[in-house]
Amino acid sequence: MVSYRNVIDPEQADYYAVGAASELKNGERMIVEIDGEPLAVFNIAGTFYAIADVCSHDDGPVAEGDLQNEFEVECPRHGARFDVRNGKVLSFPAIVDIPSYPVKVEDGQIKVGLPPAAPPAS
Ligand code: FES
Repeated sequence: MVSYRNVIDPEQADYYAVGAASELKNGERMIVEIDGEPLAVFNIAGTFYAIADVCSHDDGPVAEGDLQNEFEVECPRHGARFDVRNGKVLSFPAIVDIPSYPVKVEDGQIKVGLPPAAPPAS
C-alpha cells in the first residue's frame, strides 16, 4: 500500500539500491518493490527519476504506461498522465499527485530514497 506522502527530504531519506545504473538505458524504466511499495525508476536523457507505480486514480500500474513529451507517463488503465520528475498529476481522471522519490547513483548503483524508518517504540 503506497502512502501518499509528498516531499521526501533527500538528506534524511534511507536509500535502497535497486540495480546497476549501467543496465538502465536512456528511455528505459525498471519496476521494483521496496518494503512492499511498488515504484518505478526511469532513465530520461541520463537522469534517473523514481515515482510510485500506483496511479492515484484507481491504483493502476501507472509506470507501465507510455512515455510522452519526454517526462510524462500515461497510466495504461484510463489515461491519466503524471510528470515522472515529481509525480505531479497532469490530466484527468486522476486529480492527486503520486509520490516521487529522490534518486542518486553511488558505486554504479541506482539508489532510491524513502523516508527514514520510524524508530522502534520504546
Ligand atoms: S487507474 Fe490510472 S487512470 Fe485510472
